[in-house]
Amino acid sequence: MFDTQHFEDRLVTSWLGHNFFYFEELGSTNSYAKKMDRVDTLHGALILADSQLLGRGQYERNWEATPGQNLTFSLVFEPQNADRLTILTLACAKAIADVCAEQIEGSAELKWPNDVLIDGKKLAGLLTEAVFNGSVLERVIVGIGINVNQLEFSGELSEKATSLYLLSGKKYSRERVLAHILTKIEFYYRLWLKQDIELVKTINKSLIGFGSWTRLNVNGLDKEGKFKFLGVNEKGSLIVLNKELEVDTFSYEQVRINLA
Ligand code: BTN
Repeated sequence: MFDTQHFEDRLVTSWLGHNFFYFEELGSTNSYAKKMDRVDTLHGALILADSQLLGRGQYERNWEATPGQNLTFSLVFEPQNADRLTILTLACAKAIADVCAEQIEGSAELKWPNDVLIDGKKLAGLLTEAVFNGSVLERVIVGIGINVNQLEFSGELSEKATSLYLLSGKKYSRERVLAHILTKIEFYYRLWLKQDIELVKTINKSLIGFGSWTRLNVNGLDKEGKFKFLGVNEKGSLIVLNKELEVDTFSYEQVRINLA
C-alpha cells in the first residue's frame, strides 16, 4: 500500500503535490482530475491511485499497472494558456527520465511524443489533457504512469515494457521516487514558464533519434525517404530536415518517428 505519510514526509517541493488526493482505488486519475470542482486553485494538485482500474493511455489505449507496485498519478497545472503543452509534457518526461536514470545508475531516453524508455523498453508514459471553460483554459492535467516494482508484464508488453526493479534488481520505495520526481518536475516547470531555451536543448539531447536520419509516419502514412530529426522547437513541435534540405515542422498529433 502507498504510504501517504511517508511520501509527505519526503516531499520537499515549494508547491507541487502539497494539495494531495490519494485513492486506494480509482478508475483513472486523469478522469478524476478533469472533473474536480475548482473551489480554490488546483495548480500543483496531485491525484494518486494505488490501484487504477481504468487507466487511460495515448491513442485511446489502456494503461495497465499491477496494483500496489507502480506509480499512477496526475498533476494539475493552471497555466495562462494552452500554448506549448507538448513541451510541458516533455519537460515532465525529462524529469522522470533524470530521476529514474539516477535510481538505476544508468541512462534514460525520451521517445517522442511522451514516453520514457530505458534500454529500449518503456518505463513510463504520459498523457496530457486540457480542460477548457468555453475558450478559456481552466487546467492542464499531466497523467503519469511509471513502472516501479512490477516484475512481470503480460502479452506483448513483456517485450516492450520494463520497470525500475527489472532494470536494477532492486525494489524501490515508491514514496521516495515520487517525492524526487515532483522536485524535478517543479524545477523544469519553472524553466518551462520562463520559456527557457535551455530546457528545449536539454530535452532534445534526450530524444531518441535526435540528429539522425529517420523515417516518418504522418497521419498514419509512411513518408517516402528519410528525414533528419532536428528535435523539437520551443513549442514542442517536431522539426525535421527533408531530403531537399527544407525544414518541415509537425505538431504532435500527426507524426511518428521510426528509427531507420
Ligand atoms: C501512454 O503511454 O499511453 C500514457 C499512459 C499514461 C498513464 C497514466 S497513469 C495515471 C494517469 N491516469 C490515466 O488514466 N492515465 C495516466
